[in-house]
Amino acid sequence: MRDIKGQITLAIIKPAAVARNFSVPILSHIDEAGFHIAAMKMVWLTRNEARTFYNEHREKPFFPELIDFMTSGPIIALILERPQAVELFRNLIGNTNPEKAEEGTLRNLFAESITKNAVHGSDSDDSAMREADFFFARMNRYYKHDLK
Ligand code: RTP
Ligand code: MG
Repeated sequence: MRDIKGQITLAIIKPAAVARNFSVPILSHIDEAGFHIAAMKMVWLTRNEARTFYNEHREKPFFPELIDFMTSGPIIALILERPQAVELFRNLIGNTNPEKAEEGTLRNLFAESITKNAVHGSDSDDSAMREADFFFARMNRYYKHDLK
């Protein structure tokens, strides 16, 4: 039973932000914005895992650079719960390109570039379920709810 669809998003604090010790400030912003941290773990993705996660972009010109970056160091994966989680977290992180990200958004505050853009957020409820399953059901069963 997909009992939490519509209530969760899958977030990632990306390698450059972890490496620069931005994890705790980013988690504070997430907390202050009213998200419940329901699951969290630090992992270093293999190239195959990163390719699977970003499979929708496999034909894009930036795909090799994206895979190099996402496997360049540990990341922190999170399941965040709250009503309208996907939409409200996308608002919190801001535009993919930090130069276009609104003031006060996580990418405005913590991103270096469009590739090294600090955080990921699911782009739909279906993506959130698939991505939460990827990190927290297929790899380890930490999350109390059923994801499929
Ligand atoms: P994300 O999936 O990481 O939350 O980012 P997003 O939805 O805002 O952007 P998306 O189109 O899904 O792109 C995924 C990631 O690929 C990198 N990217 N580089 N050089 C470029 O033009 C370019 N475009 C996208 C970014 O790291 C982006 O977060
Ligand atoms: Mg995306």
